[in-house]
Amino acid sequence: MTRILLIYGGHAGGRTATLVQAVRAGLDLAEESFECRALPALQAGADDLLWAQGLLIGTPEHFGYMSGAVKDFMDRTFYAVEGKVESLPYALFVSAGNDGSGTVNSVERIALGYRWKPVAEAIIVRGEPTAEDLQRCRELGQTFVAGLALGVF
Ligand SMILES: Cc1cc2nc3c(=O)[nH]c(=O)nc-3n(C[C@H](O)[C@H](O)[C@H](O)COP(=O)(O)O)c2cc1C
Repeated sequence: MTRILLIYGGHAGGRTATLVQAVRAGLDLAEESFECRALPALQAGADDLLWAQGLLIGTPEHFGYMSGAVKDFMDRTFYAVEGKVESLPYALFVSAGNDGSGTVNSVERIALGYRWKPVAEAIIVRGEPTAEDLQRCRELGQTFVAGLALGVF
């Protein structure tokens, strides 16, 4: 069974949470079987990362950067997993007010340090998520499971 870790920043009832729900709904649409640990980034740790075969990251943009919670996850896990998570497939989705690019750049830069493997273009949703945005998030979830299970990544 494919093991997926989904970590996220943002607050309960926020826009990132809405995107997380859509990504999770997409996971459930996949025909392949999987197990998902969906955790607020502050509650996730190195053990979760070492367990995972695929990583999904959802975060709001704060001050042109990923949320503090997601950064904290990186700070706490980087040395603990160094050299043990190379080529881990990952994908990112961002809720932003009007930009999002700083968050994508910052996550991608740190992901290079972990040597994670990007398997989808980052999704940036600006403002209130539309039906189309939620569909993109569902598709991300669905293709992420399928790609992992079929060994495409
Ligand atoms: C402290 C703070 C800083 C923010 N900085 C940015 C920013 O730099 N760029 C941007 O596009 N939006 C920024 N925003 C807007 C949020 O990214 C946007 O409202 C997002 O949808 C919030 O997601 P949430 O509801 O999950 O918290 C900021 C919001 C907050 C609260």
